[in-house]
Amino acid sequence: MPYVLGVDVGTTRTAAAVCRLGGAGRAEPEPVGLGGPGGGVASALHLTSDGVFAVGEPGDPRWTATGFSRRVGDTVPIVLGPETAGAQRCAAEELTALMVMWVADQVAAREGERPAHIVLAHSPGWGSHAKGLMHRALRSVGVEASLVPEPVAAAENHAFSRSFAGSLGVFSLGSHAFSASVVGRGFELVNSVEGVDQAAGVDFDDAVFSHVRASLGRALAELDADDPRTRGLFGRLRRDCEAAKRALSGTVETSISVHLPSGPVDVPITRAKFEELIRPSVDQAVAAFARVATGVEMTVLVGGSARIPLIAASAPGRVVLEAAPETSVVRGAALAARRLVLGPDREPEPIETSIMLRDDDPSLRFPVGGLDAADAEFTAPPPRPPVDITPLDLPERRSVKRVVRGLALTGGQRRARDSEDGR
Ligand SMILES: Nc1ncnc2c1ncn2[C@@H]1O[C@H](COP(=O)(O)OP(=O)(O)OP(=O)(O)O)[C@@H](O)[C@H]1O
Ligand SMILES: [Mg+2]
Repeated sequence: MPYVLGVDVGTTRTAAAVCRLGGAGRAEPEPVGLGGPGGGVASALHLTSDGVFAVGEPGDPRWTATGFSRRVGDTVPIVLGPETAGAQRCAAEELTALMVMWVADQVAAREGERPAHIVLAHSPGWGSHAKGLMHRALRSVGVEASLVPEPVAAAENHAFSRSFAGSLGVFSLGSHAFSASVVGRGFELVNSVEGVDQAAGVDFDDAVFSHVRASLGRALAELDADDPRTRGLFGRLRRDCEAAKRALSGTVETSISVHLPSGPVDVPITRAKFEELIRPSVDQAVAAFARVATGVEMTVLVGGSARIPLIAASAPGRVVLEAAPETSVVRGAALAARRLVLGPDREPEPIETSIMLRDDDPSLRFPVGGLDAADAEFTAPPPRPPVDITPLDLPERRSVKRVVRGLALTGGQRRARDSEDGR
């Protein structure tokens, strides 16, 4: 059946959703499994020694590009490999376009046909320069797509299940990015600010990490930083801190196992402690949002970090939180693509469905804990992306060429997809 495709290339995670064009009834957007974290795929492109980009599995950081979607419009290229003639300099929009191309190919292979249209959600701060670069890069890899700001996509998704007559506030908190926006009834972006210095998901991971460090004191501080086992320990600890943070969205206490050379030690952390650590950052985000989103009818919380109960409890006014806020933007991108193809008149009025609501009337407050039912699959995102990769010990020089084709599933992804499909 003909379909449209929405794509969200986040700093850590790329997600896709399709929306059917034929058939009876309303077309619910369907997130597409891409074999990686949270049903998407890590926003990572690893340039292999064959000169092709492998998608989704961060490899050697010197040859792996991450975090590129937030750098579109930045004139500094992303350098892969050593700072010599062998280095590859890639523009952020080219890498983002490759990611979109790969997603479109994956989905087309499953659906048996190309999408009738593609919408790529983008950061609300993009001006005409960034959008122009993105359009050009997409065309150069054979992808025709429309661009829609993320808060507008979030509003499209919201409007699918709940009508709004005035304007909608969109509070977005992902792994690295915070934005506060207002979207009008006609899906126009009325106002938006991005918090450059605003803490987001990775900073909350750091807060858990600092709690572990403070709890263990010298036992951790005295480890030999040059020992590869110490690096392994810290890498695992960072992933476990992120997992503990996610667990605290659904439970009031958890613990982090630290595998010290002398034996494993469990460091407990309560939700109350975590909230104490992140409260100043949350208050700052809420204050930034309150300055932008005055007089909005409702506020929708989107992005993976919106799952943190303190965020929903702190946001002002009437607050709507979806069960899987990290998919709100991509679902909305698919709905926006459908609207672009079919026109607005084809959509019936929304039927209000499974959304949780908080109002500043205390009698209407809902318990914001226990939201993790759909989170079981949401595994750790890749580590914080390096911006400029300056290798200390240079890897072997590879003979690489710029590749805009031949993106291949890596082994792990192929296995994950095969087991997902029951093959
Ligand atoms: N249950 C949870 N509780 C707290 N945080 C969570 C939970 N689930 C996911 N996250 C966090 O959400 C973040 C990922 O969110 P999302 O997928 O919206 O980010 P992104 O789109 O890749 O990044 P960005 O929007 O910042 O560019 C990660 O920091 C992750 O740890
Ligand atoms: Mg995002």
